[in-house]
Amino acid sequence: MSFARVTGTGSYLPEKVVTNAELEKTIDTTDEWIYSRTGIRERRVAGDDETTCDLAEPAARRAIQAAGLIPADIDLIIVATTTPDQVFPSVACLLQDRLDIHNGGPAFDVQAVCAGFVYAMDICNRFFLTGACSRALVVGAETFSRIIDWTDRNTCVLFGDGAGAMVLERSDEPGVISTHLHAEGKYHELLSVPVGVSTNYEQVLRGEAYTQMQGSEVFKWAVKALGDIVDETLASNGMSKGDLDWLVPHQANIRIISATARRLGMSLDQVIVTVDRHGNTSAASIPLAFDEAVRDGRIQRGQQVIMEGFGGGFAWGSVLLKY
Ligand code: ACO
Repeated sequence: MSFARVTGTGSYLPEKVVTNAELEKTIDTTDEWIYSRTGIRERRVAGDDETTCDLAEPAARRAIQAAGLIPADIDLIIVATTTPDQVFPSVACLLQDRLDIHNGGPAFDVQAVCAGFVYAMDICNRFFLTGACSRALVVGAETFSRIIDWTDRNTCVLFGDGAGAMVLERSDEPGVISTHLHAEGKYHELLSVPVGVSTNYEQVLRGEAYTQMQGSEVFKWAVKALGDIVDETLASNGMSKGDLDWLVPHQANIRIISATARRLGMSLDQVIVTVDRHGNTSAASIPLAFDEAVRDGRIQRGQQVIMEGFGGGFAWGSVLLKY
């Protein structure tokens, strides 16, 4: 049997740091409120002329280099993003051009907001299972700051920008073990940017396409859905909690992350946490956290890792893999 195995990871953060203390100067909030409710101390924000593809490119190059490959080796590109550079073409096609890849392999975006990276990994794994690719690049990249109203304290303290990437290759050794995706569209109004190309487009043109969220409802749903999906993932593989080495969760809120860790019987020492420094980077948060932990030596070859994400839709999912 062959597997899709992660052979390289990379990430990139824009230079500009916005601390809670800086937000205290522009909105009615405090560092104490933000940190105690969310675990966030600071976030990165892209420059005015910095696009999602600008963040994706260095993350992708680092992942390809870590895998010991060159860009021309990549025969599938999937970018998870909710904040693409353009309506079309996809960021994946723009990235393929930036990387100077001309082998005709497919390139496309996936939009599942904060669950985007696990959705992209699921799709990528299916390409491997059908033999349709052999060296894939999966990227989560966002300039979420562009769809935030920076005067709305309910949302602007939560989000940040960044990109993370993984290269997956066909291997006889275990890699991705299983993926699990879910959605419940009836809650689409609880977390959304309720304008777009075919709805109130004039608001988009005015630069007023902003994220709206009923935070406490989203919070309750996220805790339940993420707890259930880790149970589902373990049960479908006949595994027990003790079989896992690491949890790499979507980084929305330290209280949601802690609740999921408790459900898995894990201490926070087994959880990769970046929310304090990155905030919620939506589809980028999982690969950013994964890359950090690979590069600092926490996640080691042969270890079993569960990734899980939850976001607007609602859409949520998990990926279990042996690194
Ligand atoms: N500073 C100070 N006060 C604030 C701030 C702020 N930045 N933001 C909100 N408040 C106030 C509100 O106005 C409200 O005041 P009121 O009671 O007078 O109306 C009060 O704080 C709300 O407080 P809490 O109910 O205690 O807030 P809660 O504990 O629910 O925390 C939070 C809010 C952090 C948003 C939380 O609900 C949360 O993390 N929700 C989930 C977010 C999430 O997981 N999103 C998923 C993915 S995102 C995606 O897919 C794009």
